[in-house]
Amino acid sequence: MKVIVRENYDEISKLCAQIIASKVKEKPDLILGLATGSTPIGTYKELVKMHKEEKLDFSQIKTFNLDEYVGMNKDNPNSYYYFMMENLFKWINIDLKNVNIPDGKALDLTKEVEEYENKLEKSGGVDVQLLGIGGNGHIAFNEPGQYLNAKTSVVELTEDTITANSRFFNSLEDVPRKAISMGIGSILRSKEIILLASGKSKSKALFEFLTKDRVTTYLPVSFLHLHSNVTVICDKDAYSLVE
Ligand code: F6R
Repeated sequence: MKVIVRENYDEISKLCAQIIASKVKEKPDLILGLATGSTPIGTYKELVKMHKEEKLDFSQIKTFNLDEYVGMNKDNPNSYYYFMMENLFKWINIDLKNVNIPDGKALDLTKEVEEYENKLEKSGGVDVQLLGIGGNGHIAFNEPGQYLNAKTSVVELTEDTITANSRFFNSLEDVPRKAISMGIGSILRSKEIILLASGKSKSKALFEFLTKDRVTTYLPVSFLHLHSNVTVICDKDAYSLVE
């Protein structure tokens, strides 16, 4: 595993965007796995800038997002679909037919998760998967617990995650309790993984992950030890407990 530590959030965002841009140039029909949340916003801003200033071309890329809240309409500002439109898709020349995000409003959620996993498989697999990390060590919405799902599934969010994500909602009660999330197996099938981490709130989970060469369902990010092409890009605050 490669670990890159940079001074601050701006620097990790720039570096991550540069890496993604170079992959898109190398393979114009790249399949990108995307995350939401605060962490990738800076990376998306940089990619938008590269599209505007350097004509970075996204016309042939395909994307798969990690997750979506259950019960959330696409046009709800808290949906991950809306997030992706506002932070990236609206500003680049991506073909929206190539965008895949689980449908949190699907009437048959069992069918939706099965179809999402099948679509992922049929696509030939994600080339580069961008991941954030929860303060509790979750990746996508694979929460710490007795077991983890291998495939895309409907999952219950933990109290930690509900509290952490309530910053985007009017109140704690408004945060959905369930989400559709790619499973650990779905994530590990990506050819390459970039994990982005910023800030002190991620330092404990990152410490547990980077300093212990073992895998546990109580720290979902630890499953990245089983993948042979992972790059962790973090700022000094996130890395602070490791040093
Ligand atoms: C979002 C996702 C989550 C976030 C994680 C960190 O698509 O999969 O695992 O990456 O909760 O969120 P932020 O970046 O808001 O700290």
